[in-house]
Amino acid sequence: PKILLLGAPGAGKGTQSKNIVEHYGVDHVTTGDALRANKDLETEHGTPREYMEAGELVPDPVVNEIVKAALKDADGFVLDGYPRNLSQAEYLGEITDLDLVALLDVSTDELVDRLTGRRVCSECGANFHVEFNQPDEEGVCDECGGDLVQRDDDTEETVKERLKVFEENTQPVIDHYEETGALVRIDGEGSLDEVWADLEAAIDDAV
Ligand code: AP5
Ligand code: ZN
Repeated sequence: PKILLLGAPGAGKGTQSKNIVEHYGVDHVTTGDALRANKDLETEHGTPREYMEAGELVPDPVVNEIVKAALKDADGFVLDGYPRNLSQAEYLGEITDLDLVALLDVSTDELVDRLTGRRVCSECGANFHVEFNQPDEEGVCDECGGDLVQRDDDTEETVKERLKVFEENTQPVIDHYEETGALVRIDGEGSLDEVWADLEAAIDDAV
């Protein structure tokens, strides 16, 4: 399947994408991870780092290029973190069709708690949370034993900026898919397993 997973920063896109990849064997195409792996890449618009550490969007040409290259060889995929504005959504429409557009719906207060408490593995990138998704041993990744760290942009100040950028730029993308009737809303506030059950049902319904 070709799945687009939308949601605010911290809504659980990365967490649920992992389930989708394991269950359906599709590629995980995520602009956030791709940009983090290329933070210091010099482009004519500067490096991704400058934008990401301020919570701003990286310029469209850089991100569009990443997505185009990643989708080219993908049989099925879950796309996470893109499109983030209407111009990216338009570009996506030109390069692929989609089986499902799913939105993980989470309130703003919950998003702030999730992001500021998130810890990620410095080795494999696995996601944890100091309260909601604790590793077996504090500060240590369950999957690979790597150290857990806070992402540069998960400080309270940058989180607020990211949520503002989401409201201004990405909410219109959600409205757009809602108007075309393609959007399926998933309650993103349940437990990890509850959200996954709803999402899996929506995917099975769509394909
Ligand atoms: P990106 O990496 O895409 O970050 P994001 O969209 O801000 O979303 P996150 O990855 O932070 O959250 P998530 O929804 O994946 O949540 P997670 O599953 O981790 O982008 C980072 C930056 O890159 C952007 O700010 C921008 O600068 C740039 N960028 C990326 N794409 C771009 C684009 N297309 N155009 C321009 N610039 C772009 O969950 C969060 C936490 O909550 C975790 O700790 C998790 O354990 C916990 N959690 C998850 N689900 C639950 C649950 N059900 N209950 C309780 N806790 C939960
Ligand atoms: Zn790890």
